[in-house]
Amino acid sequence: MAISAYPACVGKLQAQPGYNWRITPTASRAYAMSIEQLAETARAMVAPGKGIIAIDESSATCKKRFEGVGIECTEDTRRAYRELLLTAPGANQYLSGAILFDETIRQSTKSGVPFAKYMLDNGMIPGIKVDKGTVPLAGFPGELVTEGLDGLRDRLKEYYKLGARFAKWRAVITIGDDIPSGTCIEANSHALARYAALCQECGLVPMVEPEVLMDGDHDIGTCYEVTEVVLRSLFDALYNQSVMLEGTILKASMVVPGKACDEQASVEEVAESTLMCLKSAVPAILPGIVFLSGGQNDHDATAHLDAMNKMGPNPWPLSFSYGRAMQQAALKLWATDMAGNYAKAQATVFERAKANGLAALGQWQG
Ligand code: 13P
Repeated sequence: MAISAYPACVGKLQAQPGYNWRITPTASRAYAMSIEQLAETARAMVAPGKGIIAIDESSATCKKRFEGVGIECTEDTRRAYRELLLTAPGANQYLSGAILFDETIRQSTKSGVPFAKYMLDNGMIPGIKVDKGTVPLAGFPGELVTEGLDGLRDRLKEYYKLGARFAKWRAVITIGDDIPSGTCIEANSHALARYAALCQECGLVPMVEPEVLMDGDHDIGTCYEVTEVVLRSLFDALYNQSVMLEGTILKASMVVPGKACDEQASVEEVAESTLMCLKSAVPAILPGIVFLSGGQNDHDATAHLDAMNKMGPNPWPLSFSYGRAMQQAALKLWATDMAGNYAKAQATVFERAKANGLAALGQWQG
């Protein structure tokens, strides 16, 4: 259905906080002109057999990862590493885009081509992380809320000019004794929805990421329950803020047991639980869902995605937006010998992109 061909009733009923309803005199879709464009970008992000590489680590996170393998973290090593990842020969066959960090979208290849231009010239959509990270949620020990709404409209306008066509905001939900609280879930959902509405106003597809952390000893059933509540809360908030789901991508965590849980789950169990949870809470009109890897090893991240797609057809394309599960092998190689292993490190980026691209089609052979 063409997006412009909504039935006349669509947009006239507007949800109000507290679940009261009122009829609005005019359609609530204030940004109708750009729906088509946003929807097209969103569909391209999850084009068949393609996914996204997340290289949007903040400089602090990058420092931790670099220090872990003995690399000095400077503006130039970060630039060189991001160049290695973005220019890996052939990987763009399987990559629809990449999520960049503020510093990275302003950087260029060593031959002087801005990364965003390099990506567009090579068929990849530039994305940008726009949240400012997490802080403790006041009054709720052990829980986090994501910051970054202040001044966001102006930052989004600038990122659009720099070439970004989608953005990412990550909320973090921790499972533990008596957490997550409803307050934490609602605060994060509200921020995600405010961010998403601003993105759409500025012509960027919002990638909404409510990450339920794998840390802890909870079982897979607990992860399922928490993920379902989080997703329901998120889609309520998106609806309340009049976010157009047709121009939105969900970045989801998989339903898995906590890392310290004694009872780990099989690939089939993770795939089935994740699919059931998503089907129960995510509207079918969403153009696609991509997964974060969240600390899963490379093999598991690919195997889980592949299994979910083999269980299809599903209501939405399911693909990847992996950070660590796309990068960790390349980083280790590069750290060992930056010049000597450059090509080998790029080859592993290609291999990971290909494996995950096949998994996005349910055609990975293991
Ligand atoms: P991981 O795949 O390493 O979890 O990173 C994805 C991401 O972008 C987290 O925000």
